[in-house]
Amino acid sequence: MNFMQFETAQKLRGGFYTDADIADFLTRWVGVVRPQRVLEPSCGDGAFLEAIQKRASARLKTVFACEINPEEAAKAKTRTGAARLEVHVGDFLRWFLFHAREVEAFDGALGNPPFIRYQYLPEEQQVLAEKVFGRFGLPFTKHTNAWVPFVIAALALLRPGGRLGMVVPSEVFHIPHAQSLRRFLAEQCSRILILDPEEIWFGETLQGTVLLLAEKKYERAERSQGVAVVPVRGRQQLGGDPEAMFQGAGYTNGSTIEGKWMPVFLTREERALVSELRADERVRAFSEQASVDVGIVTGANKFFLVPDKVVEGFGLERWAHPMFGRSEHVQGLVYTQADHAANRRAGLPTNFLWFQEESVEDLPANVRRYLQAGLTEKLETRYKCRVRAPWYKVPSVYVAPVAMLKRAHNIPRLVLNRAGAYTTDTAYRIKPLRATSEALVLSFVNSLTCLTAEMEGRHYGGGVLELVPSEIERLLLPVVDASSAQLAAADERYRKAENDLVFLRGQDAAVLSKVGVTKRDQEVLFNAWSRFRGRRQRLPPAEETHEAE
Ligand SMILES: C[S@@+](CC[C@H](N)C(=O)[O-])C[C@H]1O[C@@H](n2cnc3c(N)ncnc32)[C@H](O)[C@@H]1O
Repeated sequence: MNFMQFETAQKLRGGFYTDADIADFLTRWVGVVRPQRVLEPSCGDGAFLEAIQKRASARLKTVFACEINPEEAAKAKTRTGAARLEVHVGDFLRWFLFHAREVEAFDGALGNPPFIRYQYLPEEQQVLAEKVFGRFGLPFTKHTNAWVPFVIAALALLRPGGRLGMVVPSEVFHIPHAQSLRRFLAEQCSRILILDPEEIWFGETLQGTVLLLAEKKYERAERSQGVAVVPVRGRQQLGGDPEAMFQGAGYTNGSTIEGKWMPVFLTREERALVSELRADERVRAFSEQASVDVGIVTGANKFFLVPDKVVEGFGLERWAHPMFGRSEHVQGLVYTQADHAANRRAGLPTNFLWFQEESVEDLPANVRRYLQAGLTEKLETRYKCRVRAPWYKVPSVYVAPVAMLKRAHNIPRLVLNRAGAYTTDTAYRIKPLRATSEALVLSFVNSLTCLTAEMEGRHYGGGVLELVPSEIERLLLPVVDASSAQLAAADERYRKAENDLVFLRGQDAAVLSKVGVTKRDQEVLFNAWSRFRGRRQRLPPAEETHEAE
Protein backbone atom coordinates (compact mmCIF):
# COMPACT_ATOMS: atom_id res chain seq x y z
CA MET A 1 0.00 0.00 0.00
CA ASN A 2 1.35 3.46 -0.91
CA PHE A 3 0.50 6.46 1.18
CA MET A 4 -0.06 9.87 -0.31
CA GLN A 5 2.26 11.65 2.10
CA PHE A 6 5.19 9.56 0.84
CA GLU A 7 4.62 10.41 -2.81
CA THR A 8 6.67 13.12 -4.53
CA ALA A 9 5.05 16.30 -5.80
CA GLN A 10 6.10 15.23 -9.30
CA LYS A 11 4.22 11.96 -8.93
CA LEU A 12 1.14 13.60 -7.43
CA ARG A 13 0.97 15.89 -10.45
CA GLY A 14 1.71 13.00 -12.84
CA GLY A 15 4.62 15.08 -14.09
CA PHE A 16 6.71 12.68 -16.16
CA TYR A 17 7.51 14.04 -19.57
CA THR A 18 7.62 12.38 -22.95
CA ASP A 19 10.86 11.86 -24.87
CA ALA A 20 11.15 13.58 -28.23
CA ASP A 21 11.20 10.38 -30.32
CA ILE A 22 7.92 9.13 -28.83
CA ALA A 23 6.23 12.52 -29.20
CA ASP A 24 7.46 12.76 -32.77
CA PHE A 25 6.20 9.26 -33.68
CA LEU A 26 2.67 9.93 -32.42
CA THR A 27 2.64 13.41 -33.93
CA ARG A 28 3.57 12.04 -37.36
CA TRP A 29 0.74 9.53 -37.16
CA VAL A 30 -1.84 12.17 -36.24
CA GLY A 31 -0.30 14.40 -38.91
CA VAL A 32 -1.48 11.98 -41.62
CA VAL A 33 -4.99 13.50 -41.40
CA ARG A 34 -3.43 16.93 -41.99
CA PRO A 35 -5.06 18.42 -38.91
CA GLN A 36 -6.18 22.02 -38.62
CA ARG A 37 -6.95 21.83 -34.91
CA VAL A 38 -4.92 19.79 -32.41
CA LEU A 39 -5.52 19.26 -28.70
CA GLU A 40 -2.85 18.57 -26.03
CA PRO A 41 -4.84 18.17 -22.79
CA SER A 42 -1.91 18.27 -20.30
CA CYS A 43 1.08 19.72 -22.09
CA GLY A 44 3.65 19.85 -19.26
CA ASP A 45 6.69 21.71 -20.55
CA GLY A 46 5.63 21.13 -24.14
CA ALA A 47 7.22 17.93 -25.50
CA PHE A 48 4.30 17.31 -27.85
CA LEU A 49 3.87 20.99 -28.69
CA GLU A 50 7.44 21.07 -29.95
CA ALA A 51 6.87 17.94 -32.06
CA ILE A 52 3.66 19.40 -33.48
CA GLN A 53 5.40 22.62 -34.38
CA LYS A 54 8.20 20.72 -36.09
CA ARG A 55 5.82 18.56 -38.10
CA ALA A 56 3.07 21.10 -38.74
CA SER A 57 1.64 21.38 -42.24
CA ALA A 58 0.46 24.70 -43.63
CA ARG A 59 -3.11 23.64 -42.81
CA LEU A 60 -2.54 23.69 -39.05
CA LYS A 61 -4.47 26.59 -37.54
CA THR A 62 -4.75 25.98 -33.82
CA VAL A 63 -2.99 24.00 -31.16
CA PHE A 64 -5.01 24.12 -27.97
CA ALA A 65 -3.19 22.95 -24.85
CA CYS A 66 -4.10 22.72 -21.16
CA GLU A 67 -1.74 22.53 -18.22
CA ILE A 68 -2.63 22.79 -14.57
CA ASN A 69 0.81 23.89 -13.43
CA PRO A 70 1.40 27.58 -14.38
CA GLU A 71 5.20 27.30 -14.38
CA GLU A 72 5.17 24.32 -16.71
CA ALA A 73 2.59 26.03 -18.91
CA ALA A 74 4.89 29.07 -19.16
CA LYS A 75 7.82 26.83 -20.11
CA ALA A 76 5.71 25.22 -22.80
CA LYS A 77 4.84 28.62 -24.25
CA THR A 78 8.42 29.84 -24.35
CA ARG A 79 9.63 26.56 -25.76
CA THR A 80 7.32 26.61 -28.73
CA GLY A 81 6.47 30.27 -29.38
CA ALA A 82 2.98 31.75 -29.49
CA ALA A 83 2.11 31.17 -33.15
CA ARG A 84 -1.06 29.10 -33.52
CA LEU A 85 -0.74 28.03 -29.87
CA GLU A 86 -3.23 28.68 -27.10
CA VAL A 87 -2.32 27.41 -23.64
CA HIS A 88 -5.08 27.28 -21.10
CA VAL A 89 -3.64 27.27 -17.60
CA GLY A 90 -6.04 25.18 -15.59
CA ASP A 91 -7.74 21.86 -15.21
CA PHE A 92 -8.42 20.07 -18.49
CA LEU A 93 -11.42 18.13 -17.18
CA ARG A 94 -13.01 21.34 -15.90
CA TRP A 95 -12.42 22.99 -19.26
CA PHE A 96 -13.84 19.95 -21.03
CA LEU A 97 -16.99 19.84 -18.90
CA PHE A 98 -17.78 23.54 -18.87
CA HIS A 99 -16.18 25.20 -21.91
CA ALA A 100 -15.40 22.68 -24.61
CA ARG A 101 -18.88 22.95 -26.12
CA GLU A 102 -17.99 26.48 -27.18
CA VAL A 103 -15.15 25.31 -29.45
CA GLU A 104 -15.01 23.37 -32.71
CA ALA A 105 -14.10 19.69 -32.67
CA PHE A 106 -10.42 18.75 -32.99
CA ASP A 107 -8.82 16.76 -35.81
CA GLY A 108 -6.16 15.33 -33.54
CA ALA A 109 -5.38 14.84 -29.86
CA LEU A 110 -1.85 14.19 -28.63
CA GLY A 111 -0.32 13.82 -25.23
CA ASN A 112 0.65 11.86 -22.21
CA PRO A 113 -2.09 12.37 -19.65
CA PRO A 114 -1.26 12.45 -15.95
CA PHE A 115 -1.19 9.08 -14.18
CA ILE A 116 -2.62 9.91 -10.76
CA ARG A 117 -4.71 7.57 -8.63
CA TYR A 118 -8.21 8.81 -7.94
CA GLN A 119 -7.71 8.86 -4.18
CA TYR A 120 -4.67 11.14 -4.56
CA LEU A 121 -6.63 13.73 -6.58
CA PRO A 122 -7.89 16.85 -4.79
CA GLU A 123 -11.61 16.53 -4.05
CA GLU A 124 -12.61 18.97 -6.77
CA GLN A 125 -10.75 16.94 -9.40
CA GLN A 126 -12.35 13.75 -8.12
CA VAL A 127 -15.77 15.27 -8.76
CA LEU A 128 -14.75 16.40 -12.24
CA ALA A 129 -13.38 12.95 -13.08
CA GLU A 130 -16.64 11.30 -12.05
CA LYS A 131 -18.66 13.80 -14.09
CA VAL A 132 -16.76 12.84 -17.25
CA PHE A 133 -17.91 9.24 -16.88
CA GLY A 134 -21.44 10.46 -16.15
CA ARG A 135 -21.58 12.56 -19.29
CA PHE A 136 -21.23 9.45 -21.45
CA GLY A 137 -23.25 7.13 -19.21
CA LEU A 138 -20.09 5.12 -18.47
CA PRO A 139 -19.80 3.16 -15.21
CA PHE A 140 -17.53 4.95 -12.76
CA THR A 141 -15.36 3.48 -10.00
CA LYS A 142 -13.21 5.13 -7.34
CA HIS A 143 -10.36 2.86 -8.43
CA THR A 144 -9.98 4.98 -11.52
CA ASN A 145 -6.89 6.98 -12.40
CA ALA A 146 -6.69 10.49 -13.91
CA TRP A 147 -5.52 9.24 -17.30
CA VAL A 148 -8.80 7.39 -17.89
CA PRO A 149 -11.18 10.39 -17.91
CA PHE A 150 -8.50 12.36 -19.81
CA VAL A 151 -8.53 9.87 -22.70
CA ILE A 152 -12.34 9.65 -22.66
CA ALA A 153 -12.66 13.43 -22.81
CA ALA A 154 -9.98 13.88 -25.48
CA LEU A 155 -11.59 11.24 -27.69
CA ALA A 156 -14.99 12.85 -27.25
CA LEU A 157 -13.55 16.16 -28.51
CA LEU A 158 -12.42 14.69 -31.83
CA ARG A 159 -14.34 15.08 -35.06
CA PRO A 160 -15.38 11.94 -36.95
CA GLY A 161 -12.25 10.44 -38.48
CA GLY A 162 -10.03 12.35 -36.01
CA ARG A 163 -6.99 10.71 -34.46
CA LEU A 164 -5.82 10.31 -30.88
CA GLY A 165 -2.17 9.45 -30.21
CA MET A 166 -1.28 9.12 -26.54
CA VAL A 167 1.08 7.54 -24.08
CA VAL A 168 -0.98 5.55 -21.57
CA PRO A 169 -0.21 2.93 -18.90
CA SER A 170 0.02 -0.63 -20.19
CA GLU A 171 -2.68 -1.56 -17.69
CA VAL A 172 -5.09 -0.21 -20.34
CA PHE A 173 -5.31 -3.84 -21.54
CA HIS A 174 -6.42 -5.41 -18.32
CA ILE A 175 -7.09 -3.14 -15.38
CA PRO A 176 -10.75 -3.48 -14.34
CA HIS A 177 -11.18 0.24 -13.68
CA ALA A 178 -10.35 1.01 -17.32
CA GLN A 179 -13.24 -1.14 -18.58
CA SER A 180 -15.38 1.96 -19.27
CA LEU A 181 -12.57 3.41 -21.35
CA ARG A 182 -12.05 0.17 -23.28
CA ARG A 183 -15.75 0.06 -24.04
CA PHE A 184 -15.82 3.72 -25.07
CA LEU A 185 -12.80 3.28 -27.34
CA ALA A 186 -14.27 0.15 -28.94
CA GLU A 187 -17.59 1.93 -29.56
CA GLN A 188 -16.15 5.19 -30.83
CA CYS A 189 -13.18 4.08 -32.89
CA SER A 190 -12.85 2.36 -36.23
CA ARG A 191 -9.40 1.01 -35.33
CA ILE A 192 -7.27 1.01 -32.21
CA LEU A 193 -3.60 0.15 -32.43
CA ILE A 194 -1.48 -0.29 -29.35
CA LEU A 195 2.30 -0.32 -29.56
CA ASP A 196 3.56 -2.40 -26.70
CA PRO A 197 7.22 -1.80 -25.78
CA GLU A 198 9.13 -4.72 -24.36
CA GLU A 199 11.07 -2.51 -21.97
CA ILE A 200 9.97 0.26 -19.61
CA TRP A 201 10.16 3.62 -21.35
CA PHE A 202 9.44 5.83 -18.38
CA GLY A 203 11.86 4.24 -15.95
CA GLU A 204 11.32 6.74 -13.17
CA THR A 205 7.60 5.97 -12.94
CA LEU A 206 8.13 2.20 -12.78
CA GLN A 207 4.98 2.16 -14.82
CA GLY A 208 4.79 0.18 -18.02
CA THR A 209 3.48 2.39 -20.79
CA VAL A 210 2.13 1.79 -24.27
CA LEU A 211 1.34 4.02 -27.23
CA LEU A 212 -2.35 4.27 -28.01
CA LEU A 213 -3.27 5.14 -31.61
CA ALA A 214 -7.03 5.45 -31.98
CA GLU A 215 -8.92 6.54 -35.06
CA LYS A 216 -12.42 7.84 -34.43
CA LYS A 217 -15.19 6.39 -36.59
CA TYR A 218 -16.35 8.45 -39.56
CA GLU A 219 -19.94 7.47 -38.86
CA ARG A 220 -21.59 6.16 -35.73
CA ALA A 221 -23.04 3.15 -37.55
CA GLU A 222 -19.64 2.18 -38.98
CA ARG A 223 -18.48 -1.24 -37.83
CA SER A 224 -15.33 -1.10 -35.77
CA GLN A 225 -12.41 -3.24 -36.91
CA GLY A 226 -11.33 -3.50 -33.28
CA VAL A 227 -7.98 -3.61 -31.56
CA ALA A 228 -4.48 -4.63 -32.65
CA VAL A 229 -1.28 -4.81 -30.69
CA VAL A 230 2.24 -4.60 -32.06
CA PRO A 231 5.15 -5.46 -29.77
CA VAL A 232 8.00 -2.99 -30.02
CA ARG A 233 11.57 -3.98 -29.29
CA GLY A 234 13.88 -1.02 -28.76
CA ARG A 235 13.28 2.57 -29.74
CA GLN A 236 14.54 2.29 -33.33
CA GLN A 237 11.10 1.27 -34.53
CA LEU A 238 9.89 4.72 -33.61
CA GLY A 239 11.92 6.04 -36.53
CA GLY A 240 9.71 4.00 -38.89
CA ASP A 241 6.46 4.92 -40.59
CA PRO A 242 3.62 4.97 -38.04
CA GLU A 243 0.96 4.98 -40.72
CA ALA A 244 2.36 1.81 -42.33
CA MET A 245 2.22 0.13 -38.90
CA PHE A 246 -1.33 1.33 -38.40
CA GLN A 247 -2.52 0.11 -41.78
CA GLY A 248 -0.60 -3.15 -41.66
CA ALA A 249 -1.73 -4.36 -38.20
CA GLY A 250 -4.18 -7.28 -37.77
CA TYR A 251 -7.23 -6.04 -35.86
CA THR A 252 -9.54 -8.20 -33.75
CA ASN A 253 -13.07 -7.47 -32.76
CA GLY A 254 -16.14 -9.07 -31.23
CA SER A 255 -16.09 -11.01 -27.99
CA THR A 256 -12.29 -10.88 -27.91
CA ILE A 257 -12.35 -7.25 -26.82
CA GLU A 258 -15.56 -7.10 -24.81
CA GLY A 259 -13.86 -7.35 -21.42
CA LYS A 260 -10.14 -7.15 -20.93
CA TRP A 261 -8.11 -6.80 -24.10
CA MET A 262 -5.63 -9.54 -23.22
CA PRO A 263 -6.91 -11.98 -25.89
CA VAL A 264 -5.55 -9.52 -28.46
CA PHE A 265 -2.12 -10.92 -27.60
CA LEU A 266 -3.13 -14.38 -28.80
CA THR A 267 -2.53 -15.46 -32.36
CA ARG A 268 -5.50 -16.57 -34.45
CA GLU A 269 -4.56 -20.22 -33.91
CA GLU A 270 -4.20 -19.78 -30.15
CA ARG A 271 -7.53 -17.97 -29.93
CA ALA A 272 -9.28 -20.74 -31.84
CA LEU A 273 -7.73 -23.38 -29.59
CA VAL A 274 -8.76 -21.60 -26.38
CA SER A 275 -12.34 -21.18 -27.71
CA GLU A 276 -12.47 -24.83 -28.66
CA LEU A 277 -11.30 -25.88 -25.19
CA ARG A 278 -13.71 -23.48 -23.50
CA ALA A 279 -16.54 -25.30 -25.28
CA ASP A 280 -15.17 -28.76 -24.43
CA GLU A 281 -17.09 -30.46 -21.63
CA ARG A 282 -13.86 -31.87 -20.19
CA VAL A 283 -12.77 -28.31 -19.42
CA ARG A 284 -14.76 -26.24 -16.91
CA ALA A 285 -14.73 -22.78 -15.44
CA PHE A 286 -13.05 -22.80 -12.03
CA SER A 287 -16.30 -21.54 -10.44
CA GLU A 288 -18.02 -24.81 -11.37
CA GLN A 289 -15.35 -26.87 -9.65
CA ALA A 290 -14.60 -24.88 -6.53
CA SER A 291 -15.50 -21.77 -4.51
CA VAL A 292 -13.05 -19.00 -3.69
CA ASP A 293 -13.11 -16.90 -0.54
CA VAL A 294 -10.66 -14.31 0.73
CA GLY A 295 -8.33 -15.29 3.56
CA ILE A 296 -8.49 -14.20 7.18
CA VAL A 297 -8.09 -10.44 7.53
CA THR A 298 -6.28 -9.66 10.77
CA GLY A 299 -5.86 -5.92 10.21
CA ALA A 300 -2.38 -6.09 11.76
CA ASN A 301 -0.45 -9.10 10.47
CA LYS A 302 2.73 -8.37 12.42
CA PHE A 303 0.76 -8.53 15.66
CA PHE A 304 -1.47 -11.51 14.93
CA LEU A 305 0.98 -13.63 12.92
CA VAL A 306 4.02 -14.41 14.97
CA PRO A 307 6.93 -16.85 15.30
CA ASP A 308 7.19 -19.39 18.11
CA LYS A 309 9.46 -17.18 20.19
CA VAL A 310 6.68 -14.58 20.64
CA VAL A 311 4.22 -17.32 21.60
CA GLU A 312 6.68 -18.69 24.13
CA GLY A 313 7.73 -15.26 25.39
CA PHE A 314 4.18 -14.26 26.28
CA GLY A 315 2.81 -17.75 27.05
CA LEU A 316 0.25 -17.56 24.25
CA GLU A 317 0.19 -21.29 23.39
CA ARG A 318 -3.57 -21.60 24.03
CA TRP A 319 -4.34 -18.86 21.49
CA ALA A 320 -1.79 -19.83 18.84
CA HIS A 321 -2.87 -21.79 15.74
CA PRO A 322 -0.79 -23.01 12.82
CA MET A 323 -0.79 -20.77 9.77
CA PHE A 324 1.05 -20.18 6.50
CA GLY A 325 0.98 -17.24 4.16
CA ARG A 326 3.88 -16.37 1.96
CA SER A 327 4.88 -18.35 -1.11
CA GLU A 328 8.41 -18.78 0.30
CA HIS A 329 6.81 -20.70 3.18
CA VAL A 330 5.09 -23.14 0.86
CA GLN A 331 7.58 -25.24 -1.04
CA GLY A 332 5.23 -27.62 -2.78
CA LEU A 333 1.70 -28.43 -3.88
CA VAL A 334 0.95 -29.83 -0.44
CA TYR A 335 1.53 -28.03 2.86
CA THR A 336 2.49 -30.81 5.24
CA GLN A 337 3.20 -31.07 8.96
CA ALA A 338 6.86 -31.44 8.00
CA ASP A 339 6.76 -28.13 6.08
CA HIS A 340 5.16 -26.47 9.04
CA ALA A 341 7.74 -27.85 11.44
CA ALA A 342 10.54 -26.61 9.14
CA ASN A 343 9.00 -23.12 9.00
CA ARG A 344 8.76 -23.08 12.79
CA ARG A 345 12.40 -24.06 13.12
CA ALA A 346 13.32 -21.27 10.69
CA GLY A 347 11.64 -18.75 13.02
CA LEU A 348 8.93 -17.80 10.51
CA PRO A 349 5.60 -16.38 11.67
CA THR A 350 3.81 -19.73 11.72
CA ASN A 351 1.30 -18.88 14.45
CA PHE A 352 -1.99 -17.10 14.09
CA LEU A 353 -3.14 -15.57 17.37
CA TRP A 354 -6.89 -15.92 17.72
CA PHE A 355 -8.35 -14.27 20.81
CA GLN A 356 -12.05 -15.02 21.01
CA GLU A 357 -12.76 -13.67 24.48
CA GLU A 358 -15.23 -10.80 24.46
CA SER A 359 -13.59 -8.93 27.29
CA VAL A 360 -9.98 -8.45 28.34
CA GLU A 361 -11.15 -9.26 31.86
CA ASP A 362 -11.59 -12.85 30.72
CA LEU A 363 -7.95 -13.08 29.73
CA PRO A 364 -4.97 -13.87 31.93
CA ALA A 365 -2.36 -11.23 32.71
CA ASN A 366 0.19 -12.48 30.18
CA VAL A 367 -2.29 -12.17 27.30
CA ARG A 368 -3.37 -8.75 28.51
CA ARG A 369 0.27 -7.73 28.46
CA TYR A 370 0.47 -8.82 24.83
CA LEU A 371 -2.69 -6.93 23.91
CA GLN A 372 -1.33 -3.90 25.72
CA ALA A 373 1.70 -4.01 23.42
CA GLY A 374 -0.76 -3.76 20.51
CA LEU A 375 -2.51 -0.81 22.12
CA THR A 376 0.83 0.94 22.55
CA GLU A 377 1.17 0.71 18.78
CA LYS A 378 -2.37 2.06 18.43
CA LEU A 379 -3.50 -1.03 16.54
CA GLU A 380 -7.07 -0.57 17.81
CA THR A 381 -7.30 2.56 15.64
CA ARG A 382 -6.42 0.73 12.41
CA TYR A 383 -9.38 0.43 10.10
CA LYS A 384 -9.97 -3.34 10.23
CA CYS A 385 -9.43 -3.43 14.01
CA ARG A 386 -11.57 -0.35 14.62
CA VAL A 387 -14.63 -1.73 12.84
CA ARG A 388 -14.83 -4.85 14.99
CA ALA A 389 -15.41 -5.31 18.70
CA PRO A 390 -13.32 -6.11 20.55
CA TRP A 391 -10.51 -4.91 18.30
CA TYR A 392 -8.38 -8.04 18.89
CA LYS A 393 -11.04 -10.59 17.90
CA VAL A 394 -10.37 -11.49 14.29
CA PRO A 395 -13.57 -12.50 12.42
CA SER A 396 -14.28 -15.08 9.72
CA VAL A 397 -11.76 -17.60 10.98
CA TYR A 398 -11.94 -21.02 9.37
CA VAL A 399 -9.59 -23.44 7.72
CA ALA A 400 -10.02 -24.30 4.02
CA PRO A 401 -8.86 -27.61 2.56
CA VAL A 402 -7.05 -25.83 -0.28
CA ALA A 403 -5.28 -22.48 -0.46
CA MET A 404 -4.17 -20.32 -3.35
CA LEU A 405 -1.54 -17.66 -2.89
CA LYS A 406 -2.79 -14.34 -4.20
CA ARG A 407 0.39 -13.54 -6.07
CA ALA A 408 2.59 -15.65 -8.30
CA HIS A 409 5.91 -14.98 -9.92
CA ASN A 410 5.78 -17.58 -12.67
CA ILE A 411 2.87 -19.97 -12.34
CA PRO A 412 -0.06 -19.77 -9.95
CA ARG A 413 -0.70 -22.92 -7.92
CA LEU A 414 -3.11 -24.34 -5.42
CA VAL A 415 -1.85 -25.88 -2.21
CA LEU A 416 -3.47 -28.79 -0.41
CA ASN A 417 -3.64 -27.78 3.24
CA ARG A 418 -2.71 -31.10 4.83
CA ALA A 419 -1.43 -29.37 7.98
CA GLY A 420 -4.90 -27.90 8.62
CA ALA A 421 -3.28 -24.48 8.89
CA TYR A 422 -5.02 -21.13 8.71
CA THR A 423 -4.21 -18.77 5.89
CA THR A 424 -4.45 -14.99 6.01
CA ASP A 425 -5.09 -12.36 3.37
CA THR A 426 -2.05 -13.31 1.30
CA ALA A 427 -3.96 -16.45 0.27
CA TYR A 428 -7.47 -17.36 -0.80
CA ARG A 429 -9.50 -20.11 0.78
CA ILE A 430 -10.68 -22.65 -1.77
CA LYS A 431 -13.36 -25.28 -1.25
CA PRO A 432 -13.86 -27.94 -3.89
CA LEU A 433 -17.44 -28.27 -5.12
CA ARG A 434 -17.31 -31.18 -7.55
CA ALA A 435 -13.72 -32.31 -7.70
CA THR A 436 -11.75 -33.73 -4.79
CA SER A 437 -9.15 -31.46 -3.23
CA GLU A 438 -6.39 -33.67 -4.64
CA ALA A 439 -7.76 -33.50 -8.19
CA LEU A 440 -8.25 -29.76 -7.97
CA VAL A 441 -4.68 -29.10 -6.82
CA LEU A 442 -3.14 -31.49 -9.31
CA SER A 443 -5.08 -30.37 -12.37
CA PHE A 444 -4.66 -26.65 -11.68
CA VAL A 445 -1.08 -26.44 -12.93
CA ASN A 446 -1.12 -26.72 -16.72
CA SER A 447 -0.55 -24.32 -19.61
CA LEU A 448 -4.25 -23.78 -20.33
CA THR A 449 -5.12 -22.72 -16.77
CA CYS A 450 -1.91 -20.71 -16.52
CA LEU A 451 -2.66 -18.96 -19.81
CA THR A 452 -6.17 -18.04 -18.70
CA ALA A 453 -4.65 -16.77 -15.43
CA GLU A 454 -2.42 -14.43 -17.45
CA MET A 455 -5.44 -13.24 -19.43
CA GLU A 456 -7.72 -12.74 -16.43
CA GLY A 457 -5.24 -11.54 -13.81
CA ARG A 458 -3.50 -8.28 -13.26
CA HIS A 459 0.09 -7.24 -12.72
CA TYR A 460 1.85 -4.09 -11.67
CA GLY A 461 5.30 -2.56 -12.00
CA GLY A 462 7.16 -5.49 -10.47
CA GLY A 463 5.64 -8.02 -12.88
CA VAL A 464 4.01 -10.25 -10.26
CA LEU A 465 0.76 -11.89 -11.34
CA GLU A 466 -2.18 -11.26 -9.02
CA LEU A 467 -5.69 -12.69 -9.24
CA VAL A 468 -8.80 -11.64 -7.35
CA PRO A 469 -11.59 -14.16 -6.63
CA SER A 470 -13.80 -13.16 -9.59
CA GLU A 471 -10.81 -13.63 -11.91
CA ILE A 472 -9.98 -17.02 -10.43
CA GLU A 473 -13.57 -18.09 -10.98
CA ARG A 474 -13.18 -17.49 -14.72
CA LEU A 475 -10.06 -19.64 -15.16
CA LEU A 476 -10.37 -22.69 -17.38
CA LEU A 477 -9.64 -25.94 -15.60
CA PRO A 478 -9.27 -29.39 -17.14
CA VAL A 479 -11.41 -31.86 -15.19
CA VAL A 480 -9.09 -34.70 -14.22
CA ASP A 481 -9.26 -37.22 -11.40
CA ALA A 482 -6.29 -37.69 -9.08
CA SER A 483 -5.53 -39.89 -6.12
CA SER A 484 -3.57 -38.83 -3.06
CA ALA A 485 -0.62 -40.85 -4.34
CA GLN A 486 -0.69 -39.06 -7.71
CA LEU A 487 -0.75 -35.68 -5.98
CA ALA A 488 2.07 -36.73 -3.67
CA ALA A 489 4.14 -37.69 -6.73
CA ALA A 490 3.37 -34.35 -8.41
CA ASP A 491 4.27 -32.54 -5.20
CA GLU A 492 7.62 -34.26 -5.17
CA ARG A 493 8.22 -33.42 -8.83
CA TYR A 494 7.36 -29.78 -8.13
CA ARG A 495 9.77 -29.56 -5.24
CA LYS A 496 12.57 -31.18 -7.21
CA ALA A 497 11.95 -29.49 -10.58
CA GLU A 498 14.80 -27.42 -11.94
CA ASN A 499 12.31 -24.58 -12.39
CA ASP A 500 8.58 -23.93 -12.71
CA LEU A 501 8.63 -24.21 -16.48
CA VAL A 502 10.03 -27.72 -16.48
CA PHE A 503 7.31 -28.73 -14.05
CA LEU A 504 4.63 -27.03 -16.14
CA ARG A 505 5.63 -28.97 -19.24
CA GLY A 506 5.45 -32.22 -17.33
CA GLN A 507 2.01 -31.26 -16.05
CA ASP A 508 0.83 -30.53 -19.59
CA ALA A 509 1.75 -34.04 -20.62
CA ALA A 510 0.03 -35.49 -17.54
CA VAL A 511 -3.06 -33.30 -17.22
CA LEU A 512 -3.85 -31.86 -20.65
CA SER A 513 -3.33 -35.20 -22.39
CA LYS A 514 -6.07 -36.66 -20.19
CA VAL A 515 -8.61 -34.21 -21.56
CA GLY A 516 -7.58 -34.92 -25.14
CA VAL A 517 -5.22 -32.00 -25.83
CA THR A 518 -2.66 -33.22 -28.36
CA LYS A 519 1.07 -32.83 -27.90
CA ARG A 520 1.08 -30.15 -30.57
CA ASP A 521 -1.73 -28.18 -28.95
CA GLN A 522 0.01 -28.48 -25.59
CA GLU A 523 2.95 -26.81 -27.27
CA VAL A 524 0.72 -24.04 -28.65
CA LEU A 525 -0.72 -23.34 -25.19
CA PHE A 526 2.68 -23.46 -23.50
CA ASN A 527 4.19 -21.03 -26.01
CA ALA A 528 1.25 -18.65 -25.66
CA TRP A 529 1.55 -18.75 -21.87
CA SER A 530 5.29 -18.28 -22.04
CA ARG A 531 4.86 -15.17 -24.22
CA PHE A 532 2.32 -13.66 -21.80
CA ARG A 533 4.54 -14.38 -18.85
CA GLY A 534 7.54 -12.89 -20.66
CA ARG A 535 5.58 -9.72 -21.37
CA ARG A 536 4.44 -9.45 -17.77
CA GLN A 537 7.95 -9.89 -16.40
CA ARG A 538 9.56 -8.02 -19.29
CA LEU A 539 11.89 -10.90 -19.95
CA PRO A 540 14.07 -10.75 -23.01
CA PRO A 541 12.96 -13.54 -25.39
CA ALA A 542 16.38 -15.24 -25.22
CA GLU A 543 15.96 -15.92 -21.53
CA GLU A 544 12.53 -17.27 -22.16
CA THR A 545 13.65 -19.72 -24.82
CA HIS A 546 16.47 -20.86 -22.63
CA GLU A 547 14.24 -21.37 -19.59
CA ALA A 548 11.62 -23.15 -21.61
CA GLU A 549 14.05 -25.74 -22.89
C1 LIG B 1 2.68 12.81 -17.78
S1 LIG B 1 2.84 14.56 -17.79
C2 LIG B 1 2.98 14.78 -19.49
C3 LIG B 1 3.25 16.15 -19.95
C4 LIG B 1 3.34 16.27 -21.46
N1 LIG B 1 2.07 15.97 -22.07
C5 LIG B 1 4.39 15.33 -22.00
O1 LIG B 1 3.99 14.41 -22.71
O2 LIG B 1 5.59 15.51 -21.76
C6 LIG B 1 1.23 15.06 -17.33
C7 LIG B 1 1.01 16.54 -17.13
O3 LIG B 1 -0.37 16.73 -16.76
C8 LIG B 1 -0.46 17.86 -15.91
N2 LIG B 1 -1.74 17.79 -15.22
C9 LIG B 1 -2.04 17.07 -14.11
N3 LIG B 1 -3.34 17.21 -13.82
C10 LIG B 1 -3.87 18.02 -14.78
C11 LIG B 1 -5.18 18.51 -15.01
N4 LIG B 1 -6.18 18.19 -14.22
N5 LIG B 1 -5.38 19.31 -16.08
C12 LIG B 1 -4.35 19.64 -16.90
N6 LIG B 1 -3.09 19.20 -16.71
C13 LIG B 1 -2.86 18.39 -15.67
C14 LIG B 1 0.79 17.72 -15.04
O4 LIG B 1 1.13 18.94 -14.45
C15 LIG B 1 1.81 17.21 -16.05
O5 LIG B 1 2.51 18.29 -16.61
